[in-house]
Amino acid sequence: MTAKVIDGKAFAAKVRAEVAEHVARLKDEHGLTPGLAVVLVGEDPASKVYVKNKHASTIEVGMASFEHRLSAETGEAELLALIDTLNADPAVHGILVQLPLPGHLNSELVINRIDPAKDVDGFHISNVGLLGTGQKSMVPCTPLGCLMMLRDHHGKLAGLNAVVVGRSNIVGKPMAQLLLGDSCTVTIAHSRTKDLAEVCKRADILVAAVGRPEMITGDMVRPGATVIDVGINRIERDGKAKLVGDVHYESAAAVAGAITPVPGGVGPMTIACLLANTMTACCRTNGLAEPKGLTA
Ligand code: GUN
Repeated sequence: MTAKVIDGKAFAAKVRAEVAEHVARLKDEHGLTPGLAVVLVGEDPASKVYVKNKHASTIEVGMASFEHRLSAETGEAELLALIDTLNADPAVHGILVQLPLPGHLNSELVINRIDPAKDVDGFHISNVGLLGTGQKSMVPCTPLGCLMMLRDHHGKLAGLNAVVVGRSNIVGKPMAQLLLGDSCTVTIAHSRTKDLAEVCKRADILVAAVGRPEMITGDMVRPGATVIDVGINRIERDGKAKLVGDVHYESAAAVAGAITPVPGGVGPMTIACLLANTMTACCRTNGLAEPKGLTA
């Protein structure tokens, strides 16, 4: 079997176009422009690229983008004061503090200072609790993007065996909660799971989010399974820099029913879902009906 390739780039373009349509309608009918504030502390090169891309995508869908770049030496009090200002600003509907923060800053304290209604990353402890108890929340962007692609491919997910490899707060845990919310039978596995291959082989849906290049190989994939690769690993092969996922693509694609490539799979969906979350936050804050299909 050769797997169907799930085109995240095309899907993300569709989501962004839907968001842009809703933005135009909000402007026309309510005089509202959804606004996203992104805070970057320090000079991490990868974070700088992410923030630049987020800014461009935000503008492209017609939203307002507010960028705050602070020096690596910024103190906690100054950062918390900026978050307080953004929390109080009615033009700002979404706030994202780019992670990782420099070591002297307490990420949990900073994230939990964000108004949960503006927490478009879904990292605030209130949103984590709401998601875990099946209540309406802001949902982390990467798992939300994976869920959208899975629903699009399968239709209903109820009753399917889902295995999530990875237990991070950003991807693994919320991904498992979302799949449970769609009535999958969910297993969370990780780098120390015994007989990982056997566990993975039970999966109708296999989500790889361990952060280890090409760790999931074809022999761990059930024939016909859907494989979602969240990994983005920069490696060197044959003297060239290469981007690979947590899945060994060639061997897995030979067995799977459907698979997301790296790049061009989950990656583009993350920013699209950030925009979708900003739209959702704007609608909720203003007591308006939120667009269907853009939330969990
Ligand atoms: N750094 C890497 N991924 C993310 C993300 O999804 N959100 C934030 N805030 N920082 C990140």
